[in-house]
Amino acid sequence: MKAYRASILYFSGPGQAVLESDGLLVVGPDAAGRQVVQAVQAVGPYQQLAPRFAHVPTEHFPGRIIAPGFVDMHIHYPQIDVIGSPAEGLLPWLENYTFPHEKRFSAHDYSAQAAMFFIAELLRNGVTTALAFATSHPESVNALFAEAQKSNLRLITGKVLMDQNSPDGVRDETEQSLLDTEALIRRWHGVDRLGYAITPRFVPSCSAAQLRGAGELAAKYPDVWIQSHVAENKDEVAWVKGLYPEARSYLSVYEQFGLMRPRAIYAHCIHFDDEDRALMRSTGAAAAVSPTSNLFLGSGFFDYEGADRVGFGYGLASDVGGGTSFSPFHTMLAAYYVGREGQTKPGVSLSPQHLWWQHTGGAAQALGLGGVVGNLLPGCEADFVVLNPQATPLLARKTAQAASLDELLFSMIVLGDDRLVERVVIAAPASAA
Ligand code: GUN
Ligand code: ZN
Repeated sequence: MKAYRASILYFSGPGQAVLESDGLLVVGPDAAGRQVVQAVQAVGPYQQLAPRFAHVPTEHFPGRIIAPGFVDMHIHYPQIDVIGSPAEGLLPWLENYTFPHEKRFSAHDYSAQAAMFFIAELLRNGVTTALAFATSHPESVNALFAEAQKSNLRLITGKVLMDQNSPDGVRDETEQSLLDTEALIRRWHGVDRLGYAITPRFVPSCSAAQLRGAGELAAKYPDVWIQSHVAENKDEVAWVKGLYPEARSYLSVYEQFGLMRPRAIYAHCIHFDDEDRALMRSTGAAAAVSPTSNLFLGSGFFDYEGADRVGFGYGLASDVGGGTSFSPFHTMLAAYYVGREGQTKPGVSLSPQHLWWQHTGGAAQALGLGGVVGNLLPGCEADFVVLNPQATPLLARKTAQAASLDELLFSMIVLGDDRLVERVVIAAPASAA
C-alpha cells in the first residue's frame, strides 16, 4: 500500500465535487484481485485516516491538489499532426488534411512513433483513460495498444472501418475489414487495461454491408465498445439523407444496423431532434461532446439543455485533430462557451463542478466505466493527477483568492493547461508497487 497527502478532489455524486483540503488517499492492491491495477483503499481527512494507515509509506504534496485522472471520450491518435489545419468545414477538412495524413499509418514504424508521442501527450495533460480512433490499418491499432500497454494506460481503440467514399490508401475492403476487426478484438480486448472499440468512421464512409457486419460483431461481443461520429455538420447530415432517404434521421441509420447500445459512443451529436435524443436514451448510447473541435470546424453547438431534458449520457472529449488541444482544461472551458452559446442561452452556462465531472466521473459513467475510473472513491482504479495551482504567476495569484470550491475550479478551468499538471500517477501493476 501507499498513501498520498495533499488537498484531494473527488466526487460524492454526479457533478458533486468535494475538496478535502488536507486529505489522505490510500491506494493498494485491487480487492477484486485484478493484477494490473492499484485501487483506492480509502480517501478522507488526513487527521482522521492517518492513525489507521500509520504504517503505510506516505508521500506529501504540500500546496498541491490530487484529482481524478481525466477521461477523454473521443480522440484520434493519427491526427496529432492534423491539429490546427483550417478548412471551410468538416468534409473539406477530411479530404484535404485528414485522409492524406492517415495514409501514413500503413507503416508500422510510423504508427509506433506516433503512438509513443500520443500516449506521452495524453499523460502530460493528465488524461489517464481515452477512447481513441486509430486508422483503417490494423498496424495502427497494434502500435497504439502496444504503446498503451507499456504505460498501463486505460485505453480503448479500434481499426477504422471505411470501405467507401474514401481515397486509396485509407479505404478498406468490406469483408477483410470485418475479419481484421474480429481478430483485433480477440487479440486485445480485455488484455490488461485495454479495450476494443468497433469503429465505423461515419455513415458516409461505410457501405451498408460494412455497417451490418459491424452491428453483428457488436452483438457477438457485447462488452466491446462502439465508436463513431454523428450529426456533426450540416453538409454531412445532408449527405446521409441522400444515402438513406428512407431513414428517419442520421442517428437512426446506426440503430438500423444494430450499432446503438450501452458502450456505443457517438462523437458530436449536434444536429439532433428530440427523437434522436430519446433514441440515445432508450438504447443507452452516449455522446462524446467535443467543443474545441465544434468551434474550430464551425460545426455547431452541443445542446446541453436538450440532452439533460431528454436524459441521455454524455461526457467531454478533445477530438484532436478537429479539436485544438489535448488539455482537459481547454476542453472544459470550450464546453462552458458552448453551453453559453452567444447570448441565446440565459444564465452562466455550466457550473465548474459539472464541467469537471463531464471530463472525469461523468465521462467514465458514459463509457460504462462508472466506479472504475474518473473518481477517487474507494474501489476506483488509482489513476490521478497532482495539480499545482501555483504553476503560473496568474494561476497562483487567482487561485489564492478563491473563496469557494467553484471559484477555485473555475480559476483552473479558465487559466489551466499542461503546466498545471505536475505529476500523473497511473494505477500501477500491484507487483510493481
Ligand atoms: N467524421 C468522420 N471522420 C471524422 C474525423 O476524423 N473527425 C471529425 N471531427 N469528424 C469526422
Ligand atoms: Zn472524431
